[in-house]
Amino acid sequence: MVDLQGQYARLASDIDPAIQQVLRDADFIQGGAVRRLEAALAERYEVKHVIGCANGTDALQLAFMALNLPAGSEVITPAFSYAALTEVLLLMGLKPVFVDVDPGTFLMDVSQVESLITANTRAIAPVHLYGQMVSMEPLRALAQKHHLFVVEDAAQAIGSQYCTPNEHGFAGTMGHIGTTSFFPSKNLGCFGDGGALFTNDDDLAARLRSMANHGQTVKYQHDLLGLNSRLDTLQAAVVLAKLNHLGDFERRRRAVAHRYDEGLLGLSGVEVPQRTVDSSHVFHQYTLKCENQTMRDALKLALAEQGIPSMIYYPIPLHWQTAYKQVVSLPISEDLCGRVLSLPICSELDEEQQEHIIKNIRNFTQKSQ
Ligand SMILES: Cc1ncc(COP(=O)(O)O)c(C=O)c1O
Repeated sequence: MVDLQGQYARLASDIDPAIQQVLRDADFIQGGAVRRLEAALAERYEVKHVIGCANGTDALQLAFMALNLPAGSEVITPAFSYAALTEVLLLMGLKPVFVDVDPGTFLMDVSQVESLITANTRAIAPVHLYGQMVSMEPLRALAQKHHLFVVEDAAQAIGSQYCTPNEHGFAGTMGHIGTTSFFPSKNLGCFGDGGALFTNDDDLAARLRSMANHGQTVKYQHDLLGLNSRLDTLQAAVVLAKLNHLGDFERRRRAVAHRYDEGLLGLSGVEVPQRTVDSSHVFHQYTLKCENQTMRDALKLALAEQGIPSMIYYPIPLHWQTAYKQVVSLPISEDLCGRVLSLPICSELDEEQQEHIIKNIRNFTQKSQ
């Protein structure tokens, strides 16, 4: 799905010296590259504090640790998403309250959120899925009205920008706390695990920074219950080297998405991804909506037979997962799990490879008519 070897080959002359420098300095834990990366991200995304941590899941856990919500507090979050957020809530003794998503954009349906708010609700946790942002203006208004925290999961949407006449901001910077992941296949990925938190709140920032380092502010003085969740310096150096290319990655991903649109628009049985009106799309995924599950599965198989990878993000809605089971009805999420199919998209995908993918999808849909 993502050509990490091709990307490394193209960027090796930037990445190798950055890694060598960390090896020479031997500042492996909380070294200079971590601080430089935090500062560069804060400037780029116009946010006061960026705190590196070990991965995107830890970032979510640290966010909820820093908020210190009472046990059993309800947090409203989408059921059509990756598992990390729900997993963290349950591990922390909080209750995920699942909301359905929009059938066109696949994003949390903010219009359904208010009806789920109870006396126990303490936070809303939107996920900026596939690379575009949940409608933050109405979401923030609701949060303000009901005195709720907003924790944004921006693991798939770093660099996406929300813009309406009244509000603007980057993914992860518009709530009380935002999180992201530097997992290798993310738009801004490292060579292992890594993550970061964003906040404009000084007190939350201080808690997060301390909690990510065993709750210390002074060495061997533990004022808070924390974790060992530091972003290591080698990974920070890799992310920092790639950050200079992120604008180029985004342009390339948008060009790939545009070519898919041109090649696939109007084909019978597949819908190309719908864009939101109020945020940019950084195309972490390019996800088709197929007519039904039988057709989706057959298309996936037909592509695989031609050596073309595709992925189902996500095959099971969170409320149907054995570990997180809840008896609720979320028809759009349930339906989408049987119909979505994500195609290869990355900054390395060339036109010839993409033509091959488009041609095979066209052939498949023509044969199925
Ligand atoms: C939406 C979302 N949230 C959280 C995560 C967790 O990130 P990590 O793998 O760095 O823990 C991911 C990773 O795939 C993700 O896609």
